[in-house]
Amino acid sequence: MNTQAIASHDSVAASTKSNGAGGSASYGRMKTPGVDTTHGAILYLESISVVFDGFRALNDLSIDIGVGELRCIIGPNGAGKTTMMDVITGKTKPSSGTAFFGQNIDLTKMHEAQIADAGIGRKFQRPTVFENHTVFENLELAMKTNKGVKSTLFARLNSTQRDQIAATLDLLRLMGEHKRPAGLLSHGQKQWLEIGMLLMQEPLLLLLDEPVAGMTDAETERTGELLNDLRGKHSLMVVEHDMDFVNQISQGGKVTVLCEGSVLAEGTMQQVQADQRVIEVYLGR
Ligand SMILES: Nc1ncnc2c1ncn2[C@@H]1O[C@H](COP(=O)(O)OP(=O)(O)OP(=O)(O)O)[C@@H](O)[C@H]1O
Ligand SMILES: [Mg+2]
Repeated sequence: MNTQAIASHDSVAASTKSNGAGGSASYGRMKTPGVDTTHGAILYLESISVVFDGFRALNDLSIDIGVGELRCIIGPNGAGKTTMMDVITGKTKPSSGTAFFGQNIDLTKMHEAQIADAGIGRKFQRPTVFENHTVFENLELAMKTNKGVKSTLFARLNSTQRDQIAATLDLLRLMGEHKRPAGLLSHGQKQWLEIGMLLMQEPLLLLLDEPVAGMTDAETERTGELLNDLRGKHSLMVVEHDMDFVNQISQGGKVTVLCEGSVLAEGTMQQVQADQRVIEVYLGR
């Protein structure tokens, strides 16, 4: 183990290559290595049901997410939005139905760690950054732990890796904060940093559950800009209650409305907001 700990630049680079990552060079192109997306979708959920003690949290739910799409998911409390993300990430196994990553990867047969390795990243509501480490170190740790380097204690970054971190800091607009301990960041900045940590793993599909909860208006708007920057570079599924925010990021794309564990409506924000069934479930809250 100690010999691995004293990793040279070369072994870090080799490890990076063997994991199929192209560093910052691959950033900006929506390639899906290992995931068969020839039919245009990155995720297929079909007739998924999740039953907890007789209660159907998901009920015959079917949804597809396109490659590079930013899909917004809305719906009243208890609609099953988080449960759907639990199924995609392997935290909850469906009682019935199929969940495929591309056409070839059956998510229902995999553990959470395998699903993360396959390229699905998930952001939970509360930020979980390493408070005592700097912003830069947080991104560095996120990158190395995912390239299979067992201990990074004595390893130094190569220039490609430094560039990748710099590009991510830029994207997050945290360049000026890179030496600050993450614990000193605002709530919004911590959330962005955590999104950045997920990005260091170069996920093909990123799931965000209520990313702007607790943020100021300015932070919310900035988060919308950030997600718009990611559109087309990653596939994204964003669950949110903040309708102004959903409006900002949906940009004429598809919004899916969940209710009682199923898809109630799907269409542009304008279409779903005009849908009588959607109006009724929101008024009935
Ligand atoms: N582990 C569990 N055991 C039992 N019931 C559960 C479990 N997880 C979720 N549920 C129930 O399933 C339903 C769907 O919950 P879920 O958290 O997916 O909703 P949600 O759409 O994310 O709601 P919110 O907008 O409030 O976050 C709820 O009625 C919830 O109480
Ligand atoms: Mg939820």
